[in-house]
Amino acid sequence: MVLAQPAKGLNILRCPYHAWAWDLEGTLKGMPYFDGTPDSRDCGLDWSKNGLVPVRVGVWHHWVFVNLDGNAPPLEEYLAPMNELTAGFDLGATRMHKRLDWEFNANWKFQNDNWETYHHVWVHEGIFTKMSEDLDFETREPRMQTLQWDNVVTLKRRPGSNRLTFNGEGLPLIPRMAGHEDATGGTSLIFPNVTITVSENHLASVITDPLAPDKTHAILGFFFAGDAATSPEMEAFRKPVLDRWLGKSRDSRGMDGIRSQDFSIWESQQIARRSAVADDVKFSAVWEKNIHHFHNQMVNALI
Ligand SMILES: [Fe+2]
Repeated sequence: MVLAQPAKGLNILRCPYHAWAWDLEGTLKGMPYFDGTPDSRDCGLDWSKNGLVPVRVGVWHHWVFVNLDGNAPPLEEYLAPMNELTAGFDLGATRMHKRLDWEFNANWKFQNDNWETYHHVWVHEGIFTKMSEDLDFETREPRMQTLQWDNVVTLKRRPGSNRLTFNGEGLPLIPRMAGHEDATGGTSLIFPNVTITVSENHLASVITDPLAPDKTHAILGFFFAGDAATSPEMEAFRKPVLDRWLGKSRDSRGMDGIRSQDFSIWESQQIARRSAVADDVKFSAVWEKNIHHFHNQMVNALI
């Protein structure tokens, strides 16, 4: 591993093992004593064929996307469905507040299997308290509308539904574009492993990074509008939002915030899924269109 830690200000990348070195374009610049001489200039190895492997990357707001095989469509095209979630919100006005690295003992796909609001009142005890807040009893439609594309599924607040502020009254709202004053938030899952929630006053994201079939590193990000992301005076206003996501305990085992409650139920599912008889899923047509869609995305990706 050439770089084991995040770094900045370097102009050469030097491998700690034998001090081979590359410039920031990945061109091989040094392999000291490879042939017994200090600069190994005439060692017979083709310097031009031993650069670092280039990888496609693209940046979309706060997130860097990596495509290892190089065959993905352009990032703007891949993420075009995200316009449906973010329409009217000026995400360029948001700033990063905090990154947390948590782990859960379950497969990364359980997050995607969880992109529904059916579980809210049972798993998120004390946070989502009334079924009526997630389901319109008249129409039997969830309050969050399901939208699906090849690479993205979105749960979007229906127009006119309750404001999605996560109790963060006092925080500035994410600025709205003209004509979009009634834009509603929601939450999207970008296949395969990124989720982004747009609330009226903050963004919350999770990137899942599989460590093993039953262990996942989760990178949690939180973003607020402008100075509200970092200003100490806004701390008291950010607190209820972070309490809701991370619990007052701020602990991945705390079971008192949305994230730890979800992690816990995924771990429980992981245990159940190991059973030889766990080979069947019933999808609710009202709530779980996204999950069915995700399973098809997985099948297509594997084919
Ligand atoms: Fe959840």
